[in-house]
Formats: sequence, C-alpha cells, structure tokens
Amino acid sequence: MKKNKLLKVVAVIGAGVLGVSMFAGCAGSAAPQGTNDAPTTQTPPQGDNKYIVMGTNAEFEPFEYREGSEIVGFDVEISKAIAAKAGKELKIEDMEFGTLIVGLNNKQMDFIAAGMSVTEDRKTQVDFSEPYFTSKQMIIVKSDDGSIQTADDLVGKKVGVQLGTTGDLFVSGTDGVEVIQFDKAPLAVMELKNGKVDAVVIDAEPAKRLVEGQDDIKVLDVPFTEEEYAIAVRKGDTELLNLINSVIAELKENGEYDRIFKQFFDVEE
Ligand code: ARG
Repeated sequence: MKKNKLLKVVAVIGAGVLGVSMFAGCAGSAAPQGTNDAPTTQTPPQGDNKYIVMGTNAEFEPFEYREGSEIVGFDVEISKAIAAKAGKELKIEDMEFGTLIVGLNNKQMDFIAAGMSVTEDRKTQVDFSEPYFTSKQMIIVKSDDGSIQTADDLVGKKVGVQLGTTGDLFVSGTDGVEVIQFDKAPLAVMELKNGKVDAVVIDAEPAKRLVEGQDDIKVLDVPFTEEEYAIAVRKGDTELLNLINSVIAELKENGEYDRIFKQFFDVEE
C-alpha cells in the first residue's frame, strides 16, 4: 500500500443500525424445510447445528440490501444455495463492512458474502472462494461538475468512500485526495448531493443504483481497478470452502446463476 499524507475524516453516521441480525428463509426447492434430520452423508460446516451464518453489509444494492425488514440480493441468493447444500438454514448477520473480516475470525459468522473484492491483503486474513463476479470502481459526481473527468482529477478534491472498501483503499492510497469515509455508501452520495464531498468512489453496480432516477448526479464513464468478488471463509476452513466452490460451480452449470443474475441486474442495458 502506498504511503500517503492524507487528511482523513471518519464520519461515523448511522452506526445505531449496525449489528442487526435477521433470519432469511431457507433456499427455494432444495431447502430442507420441515426436515429436522439433515442427511447423514453431508457433513455440516462449523457453526451451530441449525444455521449457517452469512456475514454481510446490506447497503450494497443489488448484492445485499433491505427490502422492508428483509435482506435480499444477489449474494443472498448464492448464500441460500450454500445453506441448502450444507443442509442448514441461512442466518444473516448485517454489520459494518469494515468489521466483517474481524467478525468472521471471531466466529460471528461462517462466511462473508458482501460483494467483497479479493485483495492481497485480505488474502492474508481469510481464504477466498473462486470468484463469482467481476466488478470495477467507479466515480460518481454532480452532473454539472466538469472538473472531474478521470481518477486523476480527484487530486485536490474531497472524495467520499465506504470505510474499509477497495474504493477507500484506492483513494486513500492516492496523494493529495481528501478522503471522507462513511459507514454506508448511500450517506456518501447524500453528502455529494449536499455539496459536502466532490465525488464518491464505489463499485460499478451499486454506483448505478445510487444515481438511478436522479438528474443532479451521474456515474463517470471511466472505470478503474478491475476487481473480483469472492466469498470469504476463515483461514483453513477447507471443508466449507470446498462446499462453497462446488455450489458456485453448480449454479453456473445448472443455469441458476443466470437466473439470479437476471433477477437482480438489468440485462437489457
Ligand atoms: N467490493 C468492495 C470491497 O470489497 C466494496 C464492497 C462493499 N460491500 C458491501 N456489502 N457494502 O471493498
């Protein structure tokens, strides 16, 4: 990581809603609902008997977000398939993105499914599954701001990011950028609209959702940093990792991956 002499302001807003947990129903047809006896041929991964716990930060549409009291999204669907394969019910722990890896290693969850990009640094702390999605970091600006056209133009500007994300790492590693960290990306976008930050750096799909239907902000057409999302397990938890990899492969093979993709992405565009 590059050295930098940045002025960092940590905006801890809305922390009150963190640490919420909820139960999601079991996966569709493959769910072992109503069966208390899990098939003996399947060795359940660690965690307590009934549940397998997905850790996430549900502020990342369309991967994980709230619809009423429910947490839904692309990652939730994949996690339901993992739970079904493990013969367990899925429980979701919703917490600050930056605390997920610590939470995983403290056994607050069995795996992280949070649009989490594989990075060298994270690889020293967790084991990643095969990647299941390719993404990029994008820049959101005010529609009438001509001064930011590329990532280089962020120098000298105030840039909002979600704390602990790869967008945060990227911008924090760039000299001369004033980074403002938020615990939720939507708050960064609100501050952009209010003129408190000049730009927001965030993953492509959530960026699109955050500007949808709003004329005063737009996503710049200049992606940078290609990244891959993968599911994280504790280091050495090979049994669960193998199970997750087999689920990802099966979903791709049997067409379920495409179905889930169509459910959450605007494939026409
Ligand atoms: N892909 C980025 C990263 O790994 C951002 C992920 C944010 N995910 C979320 N559920 N809030 O750092």
